[in-house]
Amino acid sequence: MLARLASASLRGLEAEAVDVEVDLSRGMPSWSLVGLPDAAVREARDRVRAALLNSNFEFPLRHITVNLAPADKRKDGSHFDLPVAVGLLLASGQIHVENQSDIPFLAAELALDGRLNPVSGILPLTLFAKSQGVKQIIVPLGNAEEAAVVQGIEVIAASNLLEVAGHLQGKRILLPFSASETSTQAEEKLLDLKDVRGQQQARRALEIAAAGGHHLLMSGPPGSGKSMLASRLPSIMPPLTDEQRLAVARVYSIAGEANARSPMSSIPPFRSPHNSASDVAMIGGGQVPKPGEVTKALFGALFLDELPEFKRPVLEVLRQPLESGTVSIARAADTLTFPAEFQLVGAMNPCPCGYLGHPSKPCRCSQTQVSRYVGRISGPLLDRFDIRIHVPPVEHEELTQMQAGESSALVKARVLKARDIQYARQGEGIVNARLLPTALEQYAKPDAEGEALLNTALNRFGLSARSYHRILKVARTIADLAGEGQVSSAHIAEALQYRGDSA
Ligand SMILES: Nc1ncnc2c1ncn2[C@@H]1O[C@H](COP(=O)(O)OP(=O)(O)OP(=O)(O)O)[C@@H](O)[C@H]1O
Ligand SMILES: [Mg+2]
Ligand SMILES: [Zn+2]
Repeated sequence: MLARLASASLRGLEAEAVDVEVDLSRGMPSWSLVGLPDAAVREARDRVRAALLNSNFEFPLRHITVNLAPADKRKDGSHFDLPVAVGLLLASGQIHVENQSDIPFLAAELALDGRLNPVSGILPLTLFAKSQGVKQIIVPLGNAEEAAVVQGIEVIAASNLLEVAGHLQGKRILLPFSASETSTQAEEKLLDLKDVRGQQQARRALEIAAAGGHHLLMSGPPGSGKSMLASRLPSIMPPLTDEQRLAVARVYSIAGEANARSPMSSIPPFRSPHNSASDVAMIGGGQVPKPGEVTKALFGALFLDELPEFKRPVLEVLRQPLESGTVSIARAADTLTFPAEFQLVGAMNPCPCGYLGHPSKPCRCSQTQVSRYVGRISGPLLDRFDIRIHVPPVEHEELTQMQAGESSALVKARVLKARDIQYARQGEGIVNARLLPTALEQYAKPDAEGEALLNTALNRFGLSARSYHRILKVARTIADLAGEGQVSSAHIAEALQYRGDSA
């Protein structure tokens, strides 16, 4: 007897067709699994056997061959347990269905007692099943909410193998799962910029960064509000488009963190990994490759607080995603690519003690300590930050007297307007930060006075060609925020303030 069920393997954020074939033949009781190079899938054998026996099914004493086809393709995912178990039940005649091709898409890991354990990647799997014209997908209860995001396919949430068997045979039909109101209407609650008092320059820099998609580096003493400002960036960033929202939801599904954010949310992700993060945590990887922080920050912000405290190799691996908007993860004989488009926000103290340049508190660091600390961020990485600012300390007494700041809603309205201008000029989705030098010379060419100012600055500070382009990009964004077509000396002058000490 042969049973064949349609399934899929995960690859990056996508799912690819895989057939699960189960064949029983005479011979010594044994079972071989072919087409399963991945360790997680090989373990399926033991789980399936235990789950069948503990669900009061028989484990067929025959020669069993399970083939995941095509054999030469790598299979990733722990969701194959259920189709393999159901295939065994069909092939051994323990369950009967009228038409094997009508069997719903099955995706679940089995616990030894026959329960269905949630798996990662349910969203891409559900989208794949739908694209194949499948009418129904059976998933573990814990994944139902996630699968139900996909319209146009029925989601059946089952808790164990017996329930699945009953449903497939039409003996005890399970009702389709429908997402609850509360879960689909994600609470859109964000930290607001109005909480930030004073810090006019830093607020302005944050607005420019959001408007032009520029990476931002803030340096300042402890308690000056750097973390506070960074965590409010998503509140002024453009909301995710439907397409982006789905891509982000895929990321969290593959990461097995679908509960961490609502797939319906259009709020850009905000990630702030701790400085002890490993390079795998940062860029992704693992035996079954999971997205890292750079991918979980997709279309949102990646905040690296205390930037110099991150391990050097971890900072260096950021360069590729910053350059290309994607991250490549090497595996045996294969490379996987995840999207990694995000806005980088770095925060740091000016020195190890934090008080270098502080108006009232003395810095206790030696010159060597300071340069070693700052030197932990390599030149090429530093180069990625279009905007670098100093965030000065504010005294606590002053803070209470300062006016509450402008709200995020007002700032965001300006950001959106500036984005529209950029997209109309440069093409949908192309922000100033991504302009190449040739495009910059075309779109951001300053007027004569601006050009003169820029040249004076270049000579005086000995700026590189890179710095020159960085200043032009930022000036372009400043002009766009002002709704002005021509980059002028005022825009250049402001951009020059954000080039940091080491531009
Ligand atoms: N401009 C400000 N307006 C309102 N509150 C502020 C401001 N700056 C700092 N604070 C208060 O001080 C606290 C510390 O700020 P925050 O954590 O952002 O500082 P930081 O610059 O990140 O410091 P560190 O270098 O220690 O990480 C905030 O939680 C907030 O309560
Ligand atoms: Mg902080
Ligand atoms: Zn110091």
